[in-house]
Amino acid sequence: MSPSRAAGHAAQPPDFSPRDFRATLGMFATGVTIVTARNDQGEPVGLTASSFNSVSLDPPLVLWSLGKAAGSMAVFSNGRHYAINVLAADQQALAERFAARGVDRWAGVAYTDGAGGAPLLEGSVATFECFNRSQYTEGDHVIFVGEVERCARRADASPLLYHGGRFYTEHPLHGAPADASAPRPPDGRFVGSYLGYLLGQASHAVYRDFENAIAAQGLTHIAWRVLAVLHDAALSHPENQGAIAVGQLAHDVLAKQPTVTKLVQRMAEDGLLALLADPADQRRTLVAATAEGRRIAAALIEQARAQESHLLSRWSAHEADTLKRHLQKLASGQ
Ligand SMILES: Cc1cc2nc3c(=O)[nH]c(=O)nc-3n(C[C@H](O)[C@H](O)[C@H](O)COP(=O)(O)O)c2cc1C
Repeated sequence: MSPSRAAGHAAQPPDFSPRDFRATLGMFATGVTIVTARNDQGEPVGLTASSFNSVSLDPPLVLWSLGKAAGSMAVFSNGRHYAINVLAADQQALAERFAARGVDRWAGVAYTDGAGGAPLLEGSVATFECFNRSQYTEGDHVIFVGEVERCARRADASPLLYHGGRFYTEHPLHGAPADASAPRPPDGRFVGSYLGYLLGQASHAVYRDFENAIAAQGLTHIAWRVLAVLHDAALSHPENQGAIAVGQLAHDVLAKQPTVTKLVQRMAEDGLLALLADPADQRRTLVAATAEGRRIAAALIEQARAQESHLLSRWSAHEADTLKRHLQKLASGQ
């Protein structure tokens, strides 16, 4: 098939550099796929490609393009089938690996065999199993048109996005349809839809199991917050071990200053905190975690993170990120 041209006309030479062209193309956000097949030896072959697009609904056709210099060109131009795996937001590392040379792209990758043995990658948000219908050489790429024999999707999953050389995940704009799967109480009832109640219940769900971990360290809930805040302060200000004033600490742990003053003294006696004179104002006391305090904080933070991952394991990365951003907005009073 020959491309149609306006008779007797040819394009003007470009008035931009290849770099400009790349950067301009980069303004078009795409998803990211890994296109896979089997070579003559039956080994899996695959590469990252963002050039995927739809062509036709009837018959079901899709396209993608492959650089002429690609190592996998022979496999795709001669093979009968390939699979297009649309990557999920948590598969960025896979996208990078399947674009890299000199690495074992398939090490530890879980997949099943699709049409013609083309690997269907576990965790993809969608797969298209394609018959290798036609190919068109244009410029430095070959356009492959695939006829889709089977397709599948994970409707609740968030896709990986790419533009301008960076990976993203999606954020719906305002006015996006509400999540129809979210539970809603019948109209007129107050408690189940009241924000304060929901936040309280959610907080209970988050802390239910973690409270035991805090108690196992012999700490109260506020003492845990003190250690967590000082842990973060040490990361932000390693030059003074993250020492902060008691007033600031009380603010950060959501407790009254006299309560925190007493607690800090007790934790210092237990060897978890060090009390230091403020070099800028000798009358003021600064508080920092000791090595033992930091050790306990690190152990609890690890458990808190594991418990959070477990709680959110059925949420997409996008849903979890959106929830946290909304809670931060609410907490900041915006
Ligand atoms: C996000 C992303 C999208 C890419 N899209 C394409 C593409 O559509 N076509 C292509 O030929 N290469 C694309 N590449 C580059 C290939 O993945 C890369 O050149 C790879 O090494 C080719 O593998 P091969 O040489 O084994 O065929 C992309 C790379 C990245 C990171």
